Amino acid sequence: MNDAFTVELLTPAIGAEIDGLDLSQPIPAPVLGELRSVWLDRKALIFRGQRLTPGEHLAFSTLFAEIDKYPFLNGIDGYPMIAPILKLPEERVNFGGMWHSDTCYLEAPAAGAVLHALELPPLGGDTLFANMALAWETLPTDLANQVEGLRVVCSSAKKGISKTREARLNESRDESSPEAFVSVHPVVRTHPESGEKILYVNEAHAVHFEGQDEAASEPLLQKLYAHQRLPEFQCRIQWSEGAVLMWDNRSTHHYPVNDYHGHRRLLHRISLKGDVPF
Ligand code: SIN
Repeated sequence: MNDAFTVELLTPAIGAEIDGLDLSQPIPAPVLGELRSVWLDRKALIFRGQRLTPGEHLAFSTLFAEIDKYPFLNGIDGYPMIAPILKLPEERVNFGGMWHSDTCYLEAPAAGAVLHALELPPLGGDTLFANMALAWETLPTDLANQVEGLRVVCSSAKKGISKTREARLNESRDESSPEAFVSVHPVVRTHPESGEKILYVNEAHAVHFEGQDEAASEPLLQKLYAHQRLPEFQCRIQWSEGAVLMWDNRSTHHYPVNDYHGHRRLLHRISLKGDVPF
């Protein structure tokens, strides 16, 4: 361990609050190495009271991976790689408002994301995270035997998740993005850094197993989703203004809670470039 920062675990399964680091300042290599291993281990890290400029947000994110532009949405003014995650007081739908893992419809989905909280409702608007390595480890053997070796077709265009993006895309669609992305990935992937096995399907984007149609795939998919939603895999992040949250998108699902109608919530998001899952 190091004496540059402290780590407070959020639940046995996932998440940690990190204290002692100013993310606007350079981070020495040994401290960064330690932070990276805590990130891989705990999968979602929250740093409070940061209030970064967009340039500082980008500089911090670049310490972990190359930056990947989020498809579909234009970035904030002057920063195409920073996507605004916004809900307005008069809106009822929140961006990404269901359990999902980001951009698994791409050939190389995001490795992670770094979110910065700028405007928050007085109460609510938390984000839940779930550990999908633990979901794989605890999957009943009969289900594990059925899914090992299967591949899943993932689409950006499933109805539920598409609806959560509508308002933002009407406002600021990136016209260079195609209408939809589709990719096929192993249902059980191996984490490229930690070597963990991960249950890599998510309800927002999974359409069917390769070689099976939707009707044939649905019963097994539903069993996997039910397992993935167990509270024992989760933590709940309560935001505070200026907080920075980074998650490992390869090994987690997240769920932004939509319980703050009538209030504005604005976060800035940077996506980290990932690998082709294997
Ligand atoms: C997302 O990137 O899915 C949004 C996360 C959030 O709004 O908490």
